[in-house]
Amino acid sequence: MLSDSRLTIHRFAEGGDSNAFASDVRAGLSATRKALSPKYFYDELGSRLFEAICWLPEYYLTRAESEILRTHGDEIVSSVDGPVRLLELGSGSAEKTRFLIEALLSKQPQLHYLPVDISDSSLELSSQRLLRLYPGLRITGFAADYFTALQALALQVPADPGHRTVALFLGSNIGNFGRDESREFLRAVRKLLRPEDALLLGADLKKSPDILIPAYDDALGVTAAFNLNLLARINRELDGNFDVGKFRHRATYNDDLGKIEIHLVSVEPQVVSVRALDLQVEFDEGETISTENSYKFDLEQLSAIASDTGFALANTWFDRARLFSFNLFVAQENA
Ligand code: AVJ
Repeated sequence: MLSDSRLTIHRFAEGGDSNAFASDVRAGLSATRKALSPKYFYDELGSRLFEAICWLPEYYLTRAESEILRTHGDEIVSSVDGPVRLLELGSGSAEKTRFLIEALLSKQPQLHYLPVDISDSSLELSSQRLLRLYPGLRITGFAADYFTALQALALQVPADPGHRTVALFLGSNIGNFGRDESREFLRAVRKLLRPEDALLLGADLKKSPDILIPAYDDALGVTAAFNLNLLARINRELDGNFDVGKFRHRATYNDDLGKIEIHLVSVEPQVVSVRALDLQVEFDEGETISTENSYKFDLEQLSAIASDTGFALANTWFDRARLFSFNLFVAQENA
């Protein structure tokens, strides 16, 4: 635990198990339909590649959400009675969070910010930067996956007396969860909150594949590099011998399920070994590893998700082009 007067960072081994990456890679590459969890994209290099994605012209999500926070930040924070403390799930660089931090600091002199991120390097860098920028800020961070962090928050972090908690889940991170998983996750968030506390949820909207596909398969190949880095990470951390040149990035839109599906495709038959796991993995030509689902939403779904998980959808804000939604979920009494 790193601690000075304004910053505390709690570091948790993945799911309480330092070898979760190893065992998940073994299970994922041994399955008939090979799959790896998108949470493993975010080692230090992967987190930086994701930040590069956010600058791409095709990746409209970050710009659209920033536009909403820049234009409506004051109104958004005013819809929760203060003073508040701010809990963020998946804080990353916390660049967009600054709009809300600034809006809150214009209404209250001090703010307790509690970021959770799976990448301890992102958490450390963004926290140091925010503390330099905002003297009124105090930070308690959690380097952990979401469920581990929620557990730790419930057990170890007392409520700030007289403060509402506002939880942030930005960037359409919720899109990585399937139907049941997203509900399980939001119920766990709801459990941490009290009635009238709020969750601010950024959710990407359903739209034409002509816009969606390039956002996940950009001209410069940054998203391809982000996806392939997962194999490079296995090489680095588990002594694998993936030849990343023998895999291709693929992004498709599944219209029925409303999700982008991301795969790594083996361009030829090959055998890869992951020495730290004493594992040999065979690939057929064209065989894929599923690495990510990115669900897209409509308002009807968002309001159903809210009411299924102990919240009410109280307000939604959009960017001018209506590409992205920003939703106020208010925690309900009987949850
Ligand atoms: C961070 C999960 C919101 O789904 O848009 C971006 C991740 N993957 N490009 C998304 C991602 C490929 C991103 N989320």
